[in-house]
Amino acid sequence: MKPSKRSWAEPYKMKMVELLQMTTRNQRLAAIKKAGFNTFLLESKDVYIDLLTDSGTSAMSDRQWAGLMLGDEAYAGSSNFYRLENAIQKFYGYKYIIPTHQGRGAENILSKILIKKGDIVPGNMYFTTTRLHQELAGGTFKDIIIDEAHDSLNEHPFKGNVDLNKLDALVKKYGAKKIPYISIATNVNMAGGQPISMGNLKELRAYTNQHGIRIIHDMTRVAENAYFIQQREKGYQKKTIAEIVKEICSLTDGATMSAKKDALVNIGGFMATNEWDVFEEARNMVVVYEGLHTYGGLAGRDMEAMAIGIEESLNDHHQRARVGQVEYLGHLMESYGIPIVKPIGGHGIFVDAKAFLPHLTQDEYPAQTLAAELYLESGVRTMERGIVSAGRKPNGENYYPNLELVRFTIPRRVYTQAHMDVIAESTASVFEKRKKIKGLKMIYEPKYLRFFQARFEKL
Ligand code: F0G
Repeated sequence: MKPSKRSWAEPYKMKMVELLQMTTRNQRLAAIKKAGFNTFLLESKDVYIDLLTDSGTSAMSDRQWAGLMLGDEAYAGSSNFYRLENAIQKFYGYKYIIPTHQGRGAENILSKILIKKGDIVPGNMYFTTTRLHQELAGGTFKDIIIDEAHDSLNEHPFKGNVDLNKLDALVKKYGAKKIPYISIATNVNMAGGQPISMGNLKELRAYTNQHGIRIIHDMTRVAENAYFIQQREKGYQKKTIAEIVKEICSLTDGATMSAKKDALVNIGGFMATNEWDVFEEARNMVVVYEGLHTYGGLAGRDMEAMAIGIEESLNDHHQRARVGQVEYLGHLMESYGIPIVKPIGGHGIFVDAKAFLPHLTQDEYPAQTLAAELYLESGVRTMERGIVSAGRKPNGENYYPNLELVRFTIPRRVYTQAHMDVIAESTASVFEKRKKIKGLKMIYEPKYLRFFQARFEKL
């Protein structure tokens, strides 16, 4: 793709709009108290600009909405399943696919099939649901991402890369037989939406081939990763996103996908594999947890929208505008002096809450605190990605992650540049008052994935 001198702009126009709620500070104070200072527990009617997640929040295209009308709601063998299977084989290149209701449905099945008690699962940083399914299946997750990924200020262009020395140390310590697969996420969510390079993935492939270890790809944001490869990695400037995505997938043995992100649908996911045996078992197991193997918990219409969304997500103009909007917000934040994770990632801006609120200890939940304050200030809803999200180890101790972040996740094709301006201005207002902000204490902690439902009180 020729580098363009023109600024990015949305490669679409609006045909329908959804009206937003405007609220007063008093209404927001009541709402955040009721929600136990957890933005996950707010009612969306009380939210003005919703940056909680980029998951399932995208605007579908007119083609996708039209696709819903082609839903073939047959229990078995729906034509939409074959459309989806065909799209996955054509654009991603995996052989066998199992639809699931969303990404974690695929993680559950895959972890149960591949992981035995006592196994080690190395990965390029954890994701909450992915790691939990690995642990519930009896495995132990080990982080093998490069050190730079844990440093919010380090400007490494591929912070999603694997440190092969860390991996080699694990293989030497536990033996390759104890490692059913390496879990590789593209555009690593918890690192701030940071890509893995093709070069690194090729080295990893060579290493795992030598040791007979699979690579399982969490391809939730693979197209965003491909965009960064196109922009940053030598030899890829002239390749299309579609070509790069296909090459990434070809270096892995199977995948789990939350189609609620890249693939532009409000619900859906799948598991993919190139191994017949794994497929056969997954096809058996999906019936227990999701539904028959030709719908996996989805309506026919959902599968049709996903097939169309996969193709749209690989359009070069789409990805340029997608990441361009995120970068626009990031640069604005920087102009206000707000500390953010660098380089700017693919699906959102990650504010460094430790640097924003340096007077709070990590046990006073700086990121949780900042997310609650920002909501109170402006009605903008963001998400904690720090100690609360990291949760507890199987032995009950807290994880203390280096990164204590607030994620401003940008839904795809939903908000405008003017919304980005308001988000940055609101964050800047909180930044001006930051010294007066007090931390939180946790008063209710659920057993699993505590960040979703934990409750807090002001200290
Ligand atoms: N893997 C990654 C990298 C994810 O970001 C997510 C979800 C999943 C797996 C699980 O997929 O939600 O469809 O079951 N991430 C959402 C987020 C929830 O807000 O980051 P799911």
